[in-house]
Order: sequence, then structure tokens, then C-alpha cells
Amino acid sequence: MKIAVVGTGYVGLVTAVCFAHVGLEVAAVDKDASKIETLRLGKSPIYEPGLEDLLVSSLQGGRLSFHTQIGEALEGTCVVFICVGTPQAQDGQANMKYVFQVASEISEYLAQNPRTINSLIVATKSTVPVGTASKIHKIIEEHLISKDVSSSFEVVSNPEFLKEGDAISDFMNPDRVVVGCLSEETQKIMHTLYAPFLKNNDGAWFSMKPESSELTKYASNAMLATRISFMNEIANLSEKVGADIDDVKRAVGADKRIGKSFLNPGPGFGGSCFPKDVSALLTLGDQVGEDLKVLRATLQANQYQKKILLKKIAKLFSIDPLDASKPLLGRRITLWGLAFKANTDDVRESVALDLVGDLIRLGAKVAVHDYIAMENFKRALPGDNLSIIYEADPIQATKDSDLLVIVTEWANYQKINLEKVARLMKYKQIIDARNLFSPYELAKAGWMYESIGRPKTEMNL
Ligand SMILES: NC(=O)c1ccc[n+]([C@@H]2O[C@H](COP(=O)([O-])OP(=O)(O)OC[C@H]3O[C@@H](n4cnc5c(N)ncnc54)[C@H](O)[C@@H]3O)[C@@H](O)[C@H]2O)c1
Repeated sequence: MKIAVVGTGYVGLVTAVCFAHVGLEVAAVDKDASKIETLRLGKSPIYEPGLEDLLVSSLQGGRLSFHTQIGEALEGTCVVFICVGTPQAQDGQANMKYVFQVASEISEYLAQNPRTINSLIVATKSTVPVGTASKIHKIIEEHLISKDVSSSFEVVSNPEFLKEGDAISDFMNPDRVVVGCLSEETQKIMHTLYAPFLKNNDGAWFSMKPESSELTKYASNAMLATRISFMNEIANLSEKVGADIDDVKRAVGADKRIGKSFLNPGPGFGGSCFPKDVSALLTLGDQVGEDLKVLRATLQANQYQKKILLKKIAKLFSIDPLDASKPLLGRRITLWGLAFKANTDDVRESVALDLVGDLIRLGAKVAVHDYIAMENFKRALPGDNLSIIYEADPIQATKDSDLLVIVTEWANYQKINLEKVARLMKYKQIIDARNLFSPYELAKAGWMYESIGRPKTEMNL
């Protein structure tokens, strides 16, 4: 069976290599020619554990090919997956121009290469507003009518739930595969495609109407984002009332109805999905006259939380975070972690982007370290970055610093010998947005250590 995948970003590339790995013939397309060149050489343009090995083995096995022209990829294809971006538009909605452009390209292909026996199944993996499957259907149908061509096709919603950093394992062992489709025949084909991943868990297969499938994806991300914002508020409250969020979190998570995961407080959620998806769902609610009050509060709480590190830094140095007179001149601050979370090189909507911008505005010299996201960070940060020092070694990055701020929860940071760090820094001060260290241990070692929702310890000069 042959499939095509359009868009070779985090979702498209993982989809392509995983289907090729289980033996399908996969043709992947991207309009970015340099990306396609890199992929043909067996190099992954993104960091994702295990991805490059699968890419190389599928290329060598001849099951995976890369193209810049969609027409080449659609030849003999049974299902085409749309995996292009749906970034946030200015009005909060999902920007659908890339998805609809691909739909037009598919319609053009079908007009020139009509199908009479086997339908082309067009499956949307991009996260898209409810109603998109029927809009894509209309785009293709109207084009075919305008060309006076009859061709068989069906549009299916098949949202993706992978997590960056665990994407391969999420795709290979999914919690659920959701397919929204109207015909039983198409459903069967989609099930056959996914069967290798459902071997041990056919209960993970969910078929439904396209509208329900599209809403499931947004509802899942919105639920997770809400959980994060809720725990961040409880952590902020813990600080005010002398509680310790670590203890609260463990005991709350012990309730099976609640569960242990997604209870870690932090500096606010970022990434390419939660902020834009919550915002798109809110906008959808507004459009149909349903005010989604909980989600509005989730976003508001997150905006507040994304400034929590800046507030803690301002308090530590007794400055006003809005002061335009560069009150941090002469200070050097080190950041550990630039990616929006650990195990990814993705810096989209990362807290570090805002924080570095704020610190430079306030006059600080900033030294940064990340295990893999530094190149993406350089590209994403607007303006000139002369006040930023990029350090390949996390310990060296702390040299002469007044303060170390931990932004991303890379597990390796926890293994660093803080005695070495203390010898290099000007002051033994850490603000840790990921609660990687024990306040009690750091208090004993004489650090000023502030984290999220736990007791603060004072520096022992
Ligand atoms: N990143 C995630 O963790 C994740 C998880 C689940 C769902 N999603 C959703 O999946 C979609 C894709 O996300 P992503 O992070 O993979 O995006 P991405 O920005 O990493 O990749 C999108 C790719 O599509 C390509 N593209 C755009 N228009 C094209 C066209 N006309 N023809 C061919 N290629 C084209 C771009 O060049 C780019 O390589 C989004 O809707 C996102 O919300 C993302």
C-alpha cells in the first residue's frame, strides 16, 4: 500500500518514517526544498529521539522517498495525510492557508488524474477547526466541477496526538487513534493502515464523525493546558501560604480520578500547540455563541505565569520590571534551557524567548545554554543579540553570573555538580522554574534557591 504525507515537520516526518518502518511505501512532500535535500541525505532537520535511525533504515530499505512536488507523491497513493502547520492567526483563529493550499493542490492533481475505482482518501492530521473536513471536501469538489471532471475521493479527520520528545514512541504505541469519517469502507482502510500500531491495543481505535474527531483534538490539548494552569495557580498559592507544592502534588495525584501526570508546576506552557489550540477553541466558541469561560481563564493564568520568572528576578534585585533605565546593567544572568520543554529543539512560544528579551531590555548580560535548541533560539530571537552569550557547556555558562535561572527541565541539569557551579558564579543564587533541585539540600549548601510553589532558601554569605 502506498501513502503520501504532505509537510515534513514534527508531525509529518514522524508519520512518514513510522508508516515506512512498518512496511508501507511512503512518499513525503515539503515545499521547503532545502529540508527535502537534507532528508534525502538521511539527516533529520528536527531533533526527535530515534527519528534519524528510522529515517535512515527506511531510506535504505527503499520504502521512503522525499519530494517537492505533490503530484509526484500522489501517483498511486491510497491515502494522503495533510500535516502542514496551522499557526495562530492575529484574531486567535487557526491560520488555515497552508491546509487549504494543499487541498487545492490535491484537487488540481485529481482533476488531471481522476480516480474512478479506488477513492483517494485525504486525511487531515494537522490540528484544524471543527468543520474543516467538510471545507476541504468542498474545495476539491468545486474544483472538479469547474473542470467538468468526476473523480472519487473522501476527506477524513485523523488528528495527531504525539508529544515532541516522545513522538516516535507515541506514534508506534498510541493511547488512541481517532478517525472521523463518513464511509465504512474508508474507515476499514484507515484501520488497516494503523493495524500495526494497534496490535496490542485495539481499544485505542476510535471512529466517529469528522466534527467529533476535530473537536477531540482541541478538547484534549485544552484539557492538558487547563491542568497546567490550575497547578501553576495552586503552586503560586503554596508560596503565599507556606505549603510545599511537591507534597500537595503527590497527594492530589494519588487520587485515581485525578492521576499523577501533568501536575508539575512551571513557568507557563509554551510550544507550538497548547497556546494556539486553546486560543483557536476559544475563537470557535465565540463564533458559535458559546463563551468558553474556563479556557479564557486558562490562557489568562498562563500569560501571568509566563512572567513569573521575570517577577522573581525583579524582586531578587529590587528593581521594577518595567523600568526603562536599564536597572540590570552590570548584572550577568545565566539561563539553563531555551526549548519550550525538555527533549526537543522546538523553541516556539518558549518562555526563554520572552525572558531573554526582557532581561536584555533591563540591561543584563545574558549567558544561555541548551543541549540542542540553541540554533533554533538564535533564529527565533528578533533583533540583534550582542548581549547574549551562547555557551556549549552549562557549567561554563554560569561563569561570573549573579544568578542562574533554570527554564527547561533537561534531566542532565539535575546531574550537574553544583559545587563546581558555585565556584564559578559571582553569587550562589538560583531561580528554578522546573523544581529540579531540593530546596533543603541547597539550603544546606548555602544557596539562595527559589523554585515554584516551594519554600525559598536564603544565601549563606
Ligand atoms: N508539533 C507537535 O507536537 C504537534 C502534535 C500534534 C499535532 N500537531 C499539529 O500538526 C500540524 C503540523 O505541526 P508541525 O509542528 O509538524 O509543523 P511544522 O511547522 O514543524 O511543519 C510543517 C511543514 O509543512 C510544510 N508545508 C507548508 N505548506 C506546505 C505545502 N503547501 N506543501 C508541502 N509542505 C508544506 C512546511 O514547510 C513545514 O516543513 C499543526 O497543525 C500542529 O498543530 C503538532
